[in-house]
Amino acid sequence: MAKVLLLNGSPHANGCTATALKEMITVFEQEGIETELIQVGNKDIRGCISCNTCSKTGKCVFDDLVNETAVKLEAADGLVVGSPVYYASPNGTILAFLDRLFYSTSFPKHMKVGAAVVSCRRGGNTASFDVLNKYFTISGMPVAPSTYWNQVHGFTAEDVKKDKEGLQTMRNLARNMAFMIKAISDAKEKYGLPDVEHSSFTSFPDGK
Ligand SMILES: Cc1cc2nc3c(=O)[nH]c(=O)nc-3n(C[C@H](O)[C@H](O)[C@H](O)COP(=O)(O)O)c2cc1C
Repeated sequence: MAKVLLLNGSPHANGCTATALKEMITVFEQEGIETELIQVGNKDIRGCISCNTCSKTGKCVFDDLVNETAVKLEAADGLVVGSPVYYASPNGTILAFLDRLFYSTSFPKHMKVGAAVVSCRRGGNTASFDVLNKYFTISGMPVAPSTYWNQVHGFTAEDVKKDKEGLQTMRNLARNMAFMIKAISDAKEKYGLPDVEHSSFTSFPDGK
C-alpha cells in the first residue's frame, strides 16, 4: 500500500495548518493511501551545524525526530510539508527540521511526490510556498499541483474551516498527489526510475 508522510510545522497540533493537512488525509484515505501525520512544530528542533558527520554516517548527529522521520521518509511514496507563515516565511522549526532531514539523508528521494501547504492569516503565503517547494525540486521529487497555490487562510482552525476554496484546494491537491503516486508506481514497474548523474559538483574553486 502506498504511503504519504505529512509533517505539521505548526506548534498547534489542531490549528490552521493541521486543518488543511487533515482535509488532505480524508482524501488519501478515500484513495486507499496510508498516511502518517508527524507533529514537528511543538518539538525542540535545532538547526543544522554543517558538521558533515551525516556524510559518513548517513544520519544527523543530533539523534531526534529528524532521524526518526528519515526512516519513515525512505519508505514513503509522498511527503506533504505543512507550515504556518511566520514573517512571510515558513516557520523556523520546520525549516530547521527540513534542512537537517534533507541534508543528512543519502537515500534517493527521486520520484517521491512532494507537496507544500502553507497557512497564513493574511500574507506571505506564496513566498513561503516557494521556499518549501525547493526542498522537493532539488531532490528529484515531482511536485503535485492543485487548483490554487496550496494555502489556507486563518488565525484559528475555525477560520480555516470557513475557507471553502482553501479546503477545496487541499482536496484537489490530495487527489492529484494520489494519482501521481499511483502513476509513478506503475511507471517504475514498466520503465524503472530514470538515471541520475552526480559526477559534477561545480563550486568554482579556481575563482573564475
Ligand atoms: C511569529 C508569527 C509570525 C506570523 N507571521 C505572519 C505573516 O507574516 N503573515 C500572516 O499572514 N500571518 C502570520 N502569522 C499568523 C499565522 O501564520 C497564521 O495564524 C497561521 O494560520 C497559524 O497556523 P497554525 O494554527 O497552524 O499555527 C504569524 C504568526 C506568528 C506566531
